[in-house]
Amino acid sequence: MSKTAILELDGNKYEFPVIVGTENEVAIDIDKLRSATGAITIDPGYKNSGSCKSEITFLDGEEGILRYRGYSIEQLAGNANFLEVSYLVIFGELPTAKQLEQFETDIRKYTLINEEMKNIIDGFPKNAHPMGVLSCLTSALTAFNPKSVNVENEKEMYEAVCKTMAKFLVIATWTYRKSMGYPLNYYDNTKGYVENFMRLMFELPTGPYAANPTIVAALDKLFILHADHEQNCSTSTVRMVGSSHAGLFASISAGVSALWGPLHGGANQAVLEMLEEIQKNGGDADKYLEKAKDKNDPFRLMGFGHRVYKNFDPRAKIIKKAADEVLATLGVNDPILNIAKKLEESALVDEYFVSRKLYPNVDFYSGIIYRALGIPTDMFTVLFAIGRLPGWIAQWKEMRVNKEPIGRPRQVYTGPALREFVPFEKR
Ligand code: ACO
Repeated sequence: MSKTAILELDGNKYEFPVIVGTENEVAIDIDKLRSATGAITIDPGYKNSGSCKSEITFLDGEEGILRYRGYSIEQLAGNANFLEVSYLVIFGELPTAKQLEQFETDIRKYTLINEEMKNIIDGFPKNAHPMGVLSCLTSALTAFNPKSVNVENEKEMYEAVCKTMAKFLVIATWTYRKSMGYPLNYYDNTKGYVENFMRLMFELPTGPYAANPTIVAALDKLFILHADHEQNCSTSTVRMVGSSHAGLFASISAGVSALWGPLHGGANQAVLEMLEEIQKNGGDADKYLEKAKDKNDPFRLMGFGHRVYKNFDPRAKIIKKAADEVLATLGVNDPILNIAKKLEESALVDEYFVSRKLYPNVDFYSGIIYRALGIPTDMFTVLFAIGRLPGWIAQWKEMRVNKEPIGRPRQVYTGPALREFVPFEKR
């Protein structure tokens, strides 16, 4: 028997349907709330509000579970590669070997960027933050691809997916090349996607470059761990912007801006900066732990806490293990890592953090591993964006294919009630 929820307001009773998801998540469907009762709900930060039904990602923050299309993040990170997982996230099923090969071949068709994009990137100062530049360049791609995608047409949608996967990776690395004053590099269609990331970033015209396979494998895993995370701030932004039928590049550009903030993807950069500051000030991790607990101090322990995970972030567990392995293989002995370990140890037994269920999140370790791989600090969030791209595309596609209505929340107005206009001389 289907469940219902009863609401009593001003002495009247209203009944609302209850929706139950695949994993038994329960939601009260309030679609008819306002028309039936005249009232709306208020939920700042959307802590209790589902914005959509989605078949892409399941996460259980209490149990520390993350799955893409039903497959556990642990199995995917242990067995698949990033393009394979991207295909899964975007199209719903793991690709066959043939489909995966075709996907990579089709992405390669679009890896060349219009040379006029270079004029745009030249307009930025060298010290511009790469995330700001990436957001602008992604939006600028619209100018070179003005035709909007017909989401009903599978072939067109597939081409748009391949194009976005191809071009976003290249322009993401260009933001770094620009900041370093290096010539912009081109994708090499004879090499793999993640290997190309390293080449695009670090290969110089002055000498041969060979990407370290340990680094490529570690990055591949990191990208998989970031591939989707259901309705987080940047993904909700992508869906919201796309709900007005703005194009894929414009929607993803907005997602990049949302991801940039230090409370979201920008935390990976903030974690590293925090660890560096602790090191510079004598390495006393406990002092910073006390600062984080002090309500009169705005300082927060970056990389700790999560809106949905009230248990260990499953991605953090995998990254922590990967960080140990990669650092050992590369022979990196980073004192910053010891500070991170000390902070984690202390926080995990500290009453403040324990009672608020504040565990290390994905960003706590990703920064450490990126640093060991030789990635510059202000590119950390760009790497997050590269990893999250398949999720943004999948969510945009799902929202459009499901013909979701334009996103338009309501509000409770608390400003002045109607008042008479006051002329200048009387103000
Ligand atoms: N350090 C110290 N205290 C914290 C932290 C932290 N990192 N995070 C939360 N708290 C405290 C809050 O002060 C609050 O305490 P109170 O109940 O005494 O007022 C309580 O824990 C709950 O915090 P909220 O801010 O209400 O939790 P919310 O779910 O809104 O925020 C967030 C989650 C934004 C991630 C928060 O934990 C935070 O700012 N963390 C640091 C930034 C960070 O690492 N962001 C990356 C998130 S992962 C991602 O986006 C990929």
